[in-house]
Amino acid sequence: MHDPYLLQVDNLSVSFDGFKAVDDLSLYVGMNEIRAIIGPNGAGKTTLLDLISGRTTPTSGSVSFNGTELVGKREYEIVRIGVGRKFQTPSVYDSLTVFENLEMSFPDNRGWWSAWRFRRTPEVTARVEEVAALIYLKEQLNERAETLSHGQKQWLEIGALLIQNPELLLLDEPVAGMSVRDREKTAELIVKLGEHRAVVVIEHDMEFVKQIAHRVTVLHQGKVLAEGRMEAIQADPKVIEVYLGH
Ligand SMILES: Nc1ncnc2c1ncn2[C@@H]1O[C@H](COP(=O)(O)OP(=O)(O)OP(=O)(O)O)[C@@H](O)[C@H]1O
Ligand SMILES: [Mg+2]
Repeated sequence: MHDPYLLQVDNLSVSFDGFKAVDDLSLYVGMNEIRAIIGPNGAGKTTLLDLISGRTTPTSGSVSFNGTELVGKREYEIVRIGVGRKFQTPSVYDSLTVFENLEMSFPDNRGWWSAWRFRRTPEVTARVEEVAALIYLKEQLNERAETLSHGQKQWLEIGALLIQNPELLLLDEPVAGMSVRDREKTAELIVKLGEHRAVVVIEHDMEFVKQIAHRVTVLHQGKVLAEGRMEAIQADPKVIEVYLGH
């Protein structure tokens, strides 16, 4: 049977000491869809990404990606299957250059450090340069990551995910702490990325969400409170009450 969704989350739940952080949640994301997840602090947004990416095991429910069940798989297997995940706080290797940070993420270059230097093939170099151009760091390839601005570090981390060419990107608050200009550039980047893959983005910045999202899912107390196009979400009294009104 043809499966119209790239990501299919069905009746997913997880409890921490009896507290349901994600509660019977279902979510369907299409190919090339940019989906924003919004909702108040503690709504379960990050936990949802933890469940999809294999970092947390659900109490019940299913996560299907391209028809493959992800529940029960290890994090690295899920990465290999095509799901890239960016965490809330950026983690790049400060003492390495932009080039090296990207190179390290190349699928065959993971593993022990001393090994990767030997594998700087023309293919790797070309891919690193291609990704660097996309994430606005073409001119910074030989600079150490520690010299980058906060925004540039966030882009570098997205770039590290792109090296592996994931079919689904999960981004947790990618523009938090960014300048207005960097937010705009990030929005442009994500729209571009969505041309060839699906992107699920958690964000609190509604201007940003408006710029990128095809559809918006509002989480509240581990459940889907509302879902739809941004205009409808912003006019929804339930959403205004628990989230947008604050
Ligand atoms: N490993 C864990 N152990 C216990 N409780 C957890 C764990 N992970 C998350 N929680 C709880 O689950 C709830 C949902 O947390 P989560 O981080 O998913 O929220 P969020 O929607 O991402 O919020 P924010 O907008 O603040 O990032 C919170 O009450 C949190 O304390
Ligand atoms: Mg969170």
